Amino acid sequence: MRKRLLAGLALVGALSLAMTGCGSGSSGGAATASGSSGGKVITVGFAQTGSESGWRAANTQSMKDAFSAANGFKLIFNAADNKQEAQIAAVRSFINQGVDAIVIAPITVDGWDDVLKEAKAAKIPVILEDRTINVSDPSLYAAWIGDDFKKEGQTAGEWAKKTGTSPTNMVVLEGTTGSAPALDRATGFAAGAAGAPITKLASQTGNFTRADGKTVMEGFLQKYGNKIQMLFAQNDDMGLGALDAISAAGMVPGKDIKIVTIDATHDGLQALADGKFNYVVECNPLLGAQVADLVKKVVAGQPVPKSQVASDQSFTQEQAKAALPDRKY
Ligand code: AHR
Repeated sequence: MRKRLLAGLALVGALSLAMTGCGSGSSGGAATASGSSGGKVITVGFAQTGSESGWRAANTQSMKDAFSAANGFKLIFNAADNKQEAQIAAVRSFINQGVDAIVIAPITVDGWDDVLKEAKAAKIPVILEDRTINVSDPSLYAAWIGDDFKKEGQTAGEWAKKTGTSPTNMVVLEGTTGSAPALDRATGFAAGAAGAPITKLASQTGNFTRADGKTVMEGFLQKYGNKIQMLFAQNDDMGLGALDAISAAGMVPGKDIKIVTIDATHDGLQALADGKFNYVVECNPLLGAQVADLVKKVVAGQPVPKSQVASDQSFTQEQAKAALPDRKY
C-alpha cells in the first residue's frame, strides 16, 4: 500500500539532502542569483489549486511576486478551480510546452503517479508546494515545501481539550475532500483532543470556502440547534461563513459556540480580535521566495532538501489584537 511519503518525512522533520531524480530542466545551465539559468530565463509552470480562500490568495500573490520577470523567471500560471482533472490537464500542458520546471500545489493527495511519470520522462523537474501527495516513487518529484497540517490540527485539538473540560458537542467543517490539509488536520485534531469529553455531532466538507462554510453550518444548526457548543473549522474562510449562519440562528459566535480555525489570515485574526472566534492556528502561505530558490537550485542540478516545513504559530484573542496592525495577508 502506498504511503504518504512526504507527510511522513515532514512529521519526523527529516531534511535529507537529495538530488532531483528528474535531472535539470530543458534550459539546463547553472542558475544565477537573479533566477535566470546561465543567462536564460527560467520558464516555470505553476499549477495552483484555485482561489478558494484568503490563504490561497496570499499564496498565489507570494508565488507571483517571487517568480517575477525581474527575478529571471517566466511564470505560466494556472488555477484549477479545485478540480483535480483540470489541475492534471494543466500539468500536461506545461509538459507539452517544454517548461524548465513545474510547481504544483496538489488539490488532493491521490492520482498523481501517471502525470508525474510523464514529467520525469520529459526530464522536467517537479516541485511540490503547500500540500503533500501519495506517490509510488519519491523520485517523481524533486522537493516539497509547505506547512505541517497535522501539527496545526493537533494544536487546535489541544485548545479544544483545554476548553471543553465538561461534556461538549462539536461540529466540524472539513476542507476539500481528499486533500492533505483536510486529512492531516482531522488526524492531528483527534490526537490533540484525545481524552476530552467532546462529542462530534457532525463533520462535513465546506470545501475551504466561505459560501460552503455558511451553507453547511446552516444545515448543522437546523439539525442540532443550540446543542452545538463548539465548531472546528479547518480554515478561516469556512469559519467566517459559519459566523453568518450562527448569528442568523440567534446564537452568539465565540460565546454560545466556541470556534477554533486554522490559517490566521487578516480576516480570521480580525474575527478573533472581535471575540467571534476563540482560537486561531496559523498556516503560513508566504512560500514563494523559498519555492523560487528551490526551483533555481533544482534547474541548476544542485542538491536540495527533499522536505522543508514552514514554521507556524497560534493566536489567542489578545495576541490577534497585537498582531493585526502588521499582518501581511
Ligand atoms: O493547503 C492549505 C489550505 O488550503 C489552507 O488552509 C486553506 O485555506 C486553503 O484553501
